[in-house]
Amino acid sequence: MDSANFALTITKVSIMRFHSRKWVKPEDLNANGTLFGGKVLAWIDEEAVLYTIIQLENKKIVTKYMSEINFMSTAHEGDIIEIGIEVIKFGVTSISLNCEVRNKMTHESIVTVDNIIMVNLDENGNPKAHGKTKIEYVKDRLAKKEKEEQKASS
Ligand SMILES: CC(C)(COP(=O)(O)OP(=O)(O)OC[C@H]1O[C@@H](n2cnc3c(N)ncnc32)[C@H](O)[C@@H]1OP(=O)(O)O)[C@@H](O)C(=O)NCCC(=O)NCCS
Repeated sequence: MDSANFALTITKVSIMRFHSRKWVKPEDLNANGTLFGGKVLAWIDEEAVLYTIIQLENKKIVTKYMSEINFMSTAHEGDIIEIGIEVIKFGVTSISLNCEVRNKMTHESIVTVDNIIMVNLDENGNPKAHGKTKIEYVKDRLAKKEKEEQKASS
């Protein structure tokens, strides 16, 4: 199945949210004077790991798999880009993500990665069930914790 069809058949469990912005600097450019692909991939990987750590509440997360990477346009020095992540699926030990990097000002797509598999690990580096089935927000977790603490102290 090609990446376009895959994107149509998957059931997404969240909408894409653009949390991170980057400012394209001279050290981010390739010999062509445009944004270096390896730099964008490092940004995507970091964003995917951060997102997964927050969702699964575990710092021991690794990238297992990245699907086809489609560079659609480029960026230039001084451009602001943003990185979006959405969840396709909560697995048993894994989470499947979809990523888009786009120009912040024009929303022109720079890169898409349809399927990124991140794996939740135990203290020995083996896959561990994460028990998560839906997107959670830190503010909701904190509100819940506060409520429980209030209940316990009353
Ligand atoms: C991640 C790692 C521990 C997984 O070990 P493994 O023996 O492949 O584990 P499993 O076969 O149990 O797979 C773990 C999960 O990944 C999924 N998975 C594994 N390979 C996959 C692939 N090619 N495509 C999609 N999903 C895949 C499995 O379906 C499973 O998900 P689930 O539990 O939600 O169903 C091991 O492959 C590893 O350490 N890889 C190196 C990771 C790394 O260093 N990454 C780069 C730096 S962060």
